[in-house]
Amino acid sequence: MNTWKRTVGCGELTVTDVDATVRLNGWVNRRRDFGDLVFIDVRDRTGLVQVVADASVSRDVLEQAGALGREYVVAVEGAVRLRRPGTANAAMATGEIEVAAARIDVLNASEQLPFGVADDEFQASADETLRVQYRYLDLRRPDMYRRLKLRHQAVKYIRDFLDGHGFLEVETPLFTKSTPEGARDYLVPYRLNPGMFYALPQSPQQYKQLLMVGGVERYFQIARCFRDEAQRADRQPEFTQLDLEMSFIEQEDVLSLIEELHIGLVRAMSGKSMLTPFPRFTYDEAMDLYGTDKPDIRFGLEVVRLNGIAARCDFGVFRSAVDAGGGVAAVRYPGGSALSRREVDELGAMAREAGAGGLATIAVTELSAAHVKSALSRYFDATEMEAILTACHAEQGDLLCLVADAEPDTVNVAISRLRLEIGRRLNLRSPDMLCFCWITDFPLVKWDEANERWDSEHHPFTMPHEQDLPKFDTDPAAIRAHCYDLVCNGQESGSGSIRIHRADIQERVFDLLGISRERQQERFGHILKAFSYGAPPHGGIATGIDRLIMNLLGEANIREVIAFPKTGMGYDPLMDSPSRVDQEQLDELGLAVKRQKQ
Ligand code: AMO
Repeated sequence: MNTWKRTVGCGELTVTDVDATVRLNGWVNRRRDFGDLVFIDVRDRTGLVQVVADASVSRDVLEQAGALGREYVVAVEGAVRLRRPGTANAAMATGEIEVAAARIDVLNASEQLPFGVADDEFQASADETLRVQYRYLDLRRPDMYRRLKLRHQAVKYIRDFLDGHGFLEVETPLFTKSTPEGARDYLVPYRLNPGMFYALPQSPQQYKQLLMVGGVERYFQIARCFRDEAQRADRQPEFTQLDLEMSFIEQEDVLSLIEELHIGLVRAMSGKSMLTPFPRFTYDEAMDLYGTDKPDIRFGLEVVRLNGIAARCDFGVFRSAVDAGGGVAAVRYPGGSALSRREVDELGAMAREAGAGGLATIAVTELSAAHVKSALSRYFDATEMEAILTACHAEQGDLLCLVADAEPDTVNVAISRLRLEIGRRLNLRSPDMLCFCWITDFPLVKWDEANERWDSEHHPFTMPHEQDLPKFDTDPAAIRAHCYDLVCNGQESGSGSIRIHRADIQERVFDLLGISRERQQERFGHILKAFSYGAPPHGGIATGIDRLIMNLLGEANIREVIAFPKTGMGYDPLMDSPSRVDQEQLDELGLAVKRQKQ
């Protein structure tokens, strides 16, 4: 063999290659030794193929094959042949053929791995930290390669789609200034002027708006963002957004563009079903129907509000909840009247965990107000009970779950969690569906109780509804904003808005948020100034690429779709980062560490 380089990928071989002499490169996935016959499965990124070292072909090669360990890197030359009758492996793409090795070169040996990477060895329960620490081994698993490949294909699809719609991909700086997205910033010290810091972007929000002032009109970026916030199964400290912005458009333009992109992408990349066109709810509608602005609409079981009935009833707990400004909400549990006591208690515990006082239930064993089973029967006469059954569209066999609280937020949190739990128990949250929906018209601001001030519901660059401008001084909570979230299966997958492009409105919003004029200049003077030079009306959105890939693949954890993710607390066990730096480096940066964790 003049060269060890492959002529074909392991997984590319088919019966049409029989009798051809090929060279393969890859890793020893598995070896089975039968003395005069050694089988080696060789793996590369294209797949697996069985290589046979046979004493009748070459004793040397047989010996070499017998000495191979798992994950050795090999080059194999040999003839492709059909497997003997009855030995084909239908579970393997190349299962009808094998390669009779005439020569094996060991390109590198391997130590025993900390965990198995071959399909027969890898355990789904493998320690997460170990997998991230040895990510370069974890990535050898075909499953991981498949995820990276799908991610690549999805990003390519997005790039091609947006290119076809006249967008320009523009890179914006990573060393920048804090831009408010609700998390803490990661700071980078500036050596030339100790005490000064860059902030890594939580999003390219301000730059993309400045690109609109710059006349780019249609921008996008596959943007890396950095946020120091509590980690969750769908959050990483550094993650990737599809960030885009358009000028001279209205909300509808962004929504229809993103919808077209997602429908095409999901159809091209997965067999999952969607509801099209994406249903739309205003924020108020979503809160009313689902108790959340991130509804999982793979199933119905909408929340029913019973405030009207509760306000007139004899049950003090319900009446006082309504009187105090809260309310009573119910959700149906089809077939739930047959639940065991323990199963109902679990639902009650869930409501209490959400902050509600408890859960009241009505078991509709028979569809008749007189025959339901409920502790509430003591307080509600037949007409009132009938009204509840009717309002809930109750069916025989249902368990109606009712939550009351003086705080509307508590009612919503509790009832929406119960609804999700019912959906889970009834297998209504199918991983084969990607049910996107739009939530629009969020409030501009929400009251921050702890700091006693108004805070942006999204971010401060969101345009308020024109007709709500007078409410700035009278009722800020009632100001609606031109902003929208894309939600998928109960998870936020994107968020955007029509932006403020006038300095006077932007200043008013900053004022409302309690940012002094001096601080406005210090933090946002650049954007206020930019708005004074003919900023066009503009708007946009950012969607989470990692979350999109999670959804396409049905993965429950964001780490599964990122090549080198962080584990809990933002730690990278592979690089052992974050890590201490030398005193010399600290001195150079003018930094002193006040507290050090041991
Ligand atoms: P927002 O902060 O809502 O909006 O972020 C947009 C989308 O980014 C994804 N995302 C994350 N994904 C993984 N890990 C995280 N820590 C994380 N944080 C956010 C979510 C989210 O919907 N500048 C605005 C967008 C705009 O107005 O155009 C912004 O960043 O999928």
